[in-house]
This record gives sequence, C-alpha cells and structure tokens, in this order.
Amino acid sequence: ELPQPFQVPLPVPQVLRPVRTDGTTDHYEITQQVARLEILPGLRTEMWTYGGSYPGPTVAVRSGRQAVVRHRNELPVPSVVHLHGGHTPAESDGYPIDLILPAATGHPSGAGPAPGTSRAAHPAGAVGASDRSGRTGTAGMAGMPGTAGMPGMPFGRTTDGDRTYTYPGRQRAATLWYHDHRMGFTGPGIWRGLAGFHLVLDDEDDALPLPRGDRDLPLMLADRSFAEDGSFLYPAVDSALAVPGVTDEYMNGVLGDVILVNGAPWPRLEVDRARYRLRLLNASNARLYRLELDPQPAGGDALVQIAGDGGLLEAPVAHDAVEIAPAERFEIVVDFARFAPGTSVRLVNRFGSERTAEVMRFDVSSRTVTDDSTVPERLCSLERLDPELAVTTRRFGFRRSRSSGWTINNQGYEPGRAVANPALGSTEIWRFFTDVHHPVHLHLDHFQVLSRNGAAPGPYDAGWKDTVDLRPAESVEVLVRFTDYPGTYMLHCHNLEHEDMAMMADFVVE
Ligand code: C2O
Ligand code: CU
Repeated sequence: ELPQPFQVPLPVPQVLRPVRTDGTTDHYEITQQVARLEILPGLRTEMWTYGGSYPGPTVAVRSGRQAVVRHRNELPVPSVVHLHGGHTPAESDGYPIDLILPAATGHPSGAGPAPGTSRAAHPAGAVGASDRSGRTGTAGMAGMPGTAGMPGMPFGRTTDGDRTYTYPGRQRAATLWYHDHRMGFTGPGIWRGLAGFHLVLDDEDDALPLPRGDRDLPLMLADRSFAEDGSFLYPAVDSALAVPGVTDEYMNGVLGDVILVNGAPWPRLEVDRARYRLRLLNASNARLYRLELDPQPAGGDALVQIAGDGGLLEAPVAHDAVEIAPAERFEIVVDFARFAPGTSVRLVNRFGSERTAEVMRFDVSSRTVTDDSTVPERLCSLERLDPELAVTTRRFGFRRSRSSGWTINNQGYEPGRAVANPALGSTEIWRFFTDVHHPVHLHLDHFQVLSRNGAAPGPYDAGWKDTVDLRPAESVEVLVRFTDYPGTYMLHCHNLEHEDMAMMADFVVE
C-alpha cells in the first residue's frame, strides 16, 4: 500500500564540507556505501548511497576554484562517477569502464598499468591522481562481456577501492549533478540511490537579487517502485547485475509509482509568502514530467524560469507548465505571495496519472515576512554560438534495432569506437533525430539549441543546455563548441535503460 502524499516534510540534502581547502582547490571525500534509509514511512530501503544519504551530499563550489573529490567505493559492485554538466578533463569524466573496484574485494594494488591498457585518446601525461599512485589495473572487467581481451581495446583505467576526480571549475554557475555511470548499469545504480547535486556558484549569479538561503532549494525528482517490505523493485534482467538490461516489458525505460523529491515520497514544505528559487532536476530513469502548480495563481505564468542546465538564461521565461526530461534542470522562481495565506499549492505532473500526477505540496504560511528578492528583466548576457562558424554538421539517429537494442546510427555502444572526432576549439552542428522519445545528452560542453524540426527552438530550449528532449519523430539541431579538454567523451540517451542497452557512443576531441 502506497503512503499518503504530503505527509513527509521535504528533506534538503546536506552541503558537503571540504576536508581541506587551499588557495586554488577544495578537497572533498565521499564514501559510496550501502545504507538502509527510511524512504517510505516506517520501512527501511536498502540503498546504494554517496555518503549514506539519498540524495548524496551537495557539493557546492565557486566557479574558478578546483574541486577534487575522492570517492571510496564500499559498495558490493564497481562504480564510476560522472559529473553531469561538468566541464571536465576526460580522465575525470567518468568514462563508463573507468571503474572504481569495491574497496573490500579489489585486486591487489600496486600492479601498475598492464601493457596496452591506457586509452590512447588521452593526452600523454594526463593521468588522474589515483593513476599516479600506481593503483591502476585492468581487473573488474567481469560482467562486461565483449570488453575483456580484445586487442587494441581501450580498457578503463580501473582503480582499487578509491579514485580521485578533479573538476577544474572552469565554468559558470549552474546546477549540476553527479551520478553513477558504470557501463550497462547506470539505470540500476541511480535507481538504488547513486545521485547528488553539485552546484557551481559565481559572482554573476550572486549579484542578482534572486531568492537565496532557505529560499533557494534544490529539488531532485525521481520515481521509484517498492516491494511490500520497502525494498526497491527494479526489473533487471539479471538481479545479480552481471548482465545489463531490463526485462522486455521495460525496454522503453523503468517507471515507478512513487514520486520522490529529495528522497521523500510526495513531500510537503511550508513556505513563506515570498519568492523561492527551485532548482528542479529530473533524476528519474525514464519519466518525463509536465510540471504545473495547482491552483495556478491569478494571471498564470507561475513558473518563472531563470536558468537551465548550463546556468542563467539571458532573460527570464515565464511558463504555466515546465516539461522536464530525464537529466534536465530547470531553475524556476515561484512567488508564493501570489497565493492567499494558508493556501496549499500542489506541484503536479500533468503527464502522470493518479499518484504519479502528484509531486509535492507547498503550504503557504500566514506569517508576515519581508522579501526583497526580485527577478530582473535581464539576468546576464549570453554568448550566442554562430551557426556560420560551424565547420561541419553531423547526424545522429536514435533508434531501436531488432538485434542490438537501442542504437545511435544503428550501432550499439562499444567502448573505444568513436563516432565523431571534432577538433578542439571548433564549433559543430549536431543533428539528432528519432522515431520515439529520447533525452539526448553530451558530455564535456554545453550546447545551444539551434532548431527543432527546422523551426525555432521550443519553449524549454533556452540558454546553455547539456540534455535536449528529443520527442517522437523530431529532429533537433544543436550548436556545440568543443573547448579546453581533448579526449574521449560520451554522447548518449539519458533514458537510463536506453543508455544501458547501448544507446551511447564515444566522441573523441582532438
Ligand atoms: Cu548524466 Cu553521461 O550522464
Ligand atoms: Cu532513449
């Protein structure tokens, strides 16, 4: 039996304290561990967590400062950490076979890299800190049929027990998130809890009179299904997770019947009659939401979007509803002073039915408060990428194939096979087209949507983005410039079951 909605107060993930800071760098440590958390009232759910909580702790760093995050893997399985939306050197980007082996069961350390196991695509000398420690090896390929023992195969730089990821922070303020990215198992990994916020903060954003402090809230939306005893249900084809994929009925992606916000089922939050900045992240495996407030305030336009995946928009965009696909972020300002004191305002999902049509509830308090925040008519100035400067247009078809699951240009994922080799510093047009719905994500650089079905970008395409919602029979063109870091990066569908069933490809920036 499902819990009643709007009983549990909204949790807000803790902001992680650095273990050490110096003039340029903040150092963090996160232990990936199994935890039994109370997600449904009165029940315990065994989860895979970052630091024992779900969502994981929020990493909050200033733009221009480097964040170095050491992850220790105390999970029963290998893991890979990707900073989604991060402008990250390849060796710290979480390539799907750059595994961190479980600390308890890793192979003996000190073996050093075996011959031929480093990835040629990485510039010489650009090895991560854990590689330098000599704790590199090639074990942990079990359960990855087709990757071990192939000549010329770019084996992942596997590490034992821990790995240190370096995020230079050369990017503007934005709501990013970190999550597991293990080849073939991103879906079950994130489903079990491996996701957290990573906020980049900067002076440009700080200088705006936007809501802050308690009125600046990250909201991680994710749907899950539970068994009677509170354990997660996930329809993996192999419950031991040695073989990737889900059972046939879930080929289109796994949906749950409980909507979690920051890990709580249909939570409620008492809000002041004031403006709030809501940093919405869709961390669901496959669910697409159309979010609205109910009731709507008189005059509509309740959801004032100020930022997207890649940070601030030039100017706010007012919406009645926001459609948010997996991995996308929308930062919206809601002014609860537009509601009478005591009003209960539900955040609803018009794409859901019955219980999945509810998300959370805001209870507008009758306290008198001051609110000196506003949403300026102009938020920042954004560089527009110029399509005239694009050196090439590449086409990527997202399709299901009879033989190889989900594909890009009719090929399933194969580590080391690049589908594009853009030059560092160049601008390109990438055209994505599809038969069914796919949220398409690029690593390394944010992009700008150029057109949708040959027409102007849609209402949810503003600003810099790293994930674009590709809807059935659509073709979307984006402009992307490849900057700062050469190496191997990923292009994939962020419907996690599609991703795990091979709708992913490498591109190598040269
Ligand atoms: Cu959020 Cu490659 O992923
Ligand atoms: Cu897809």
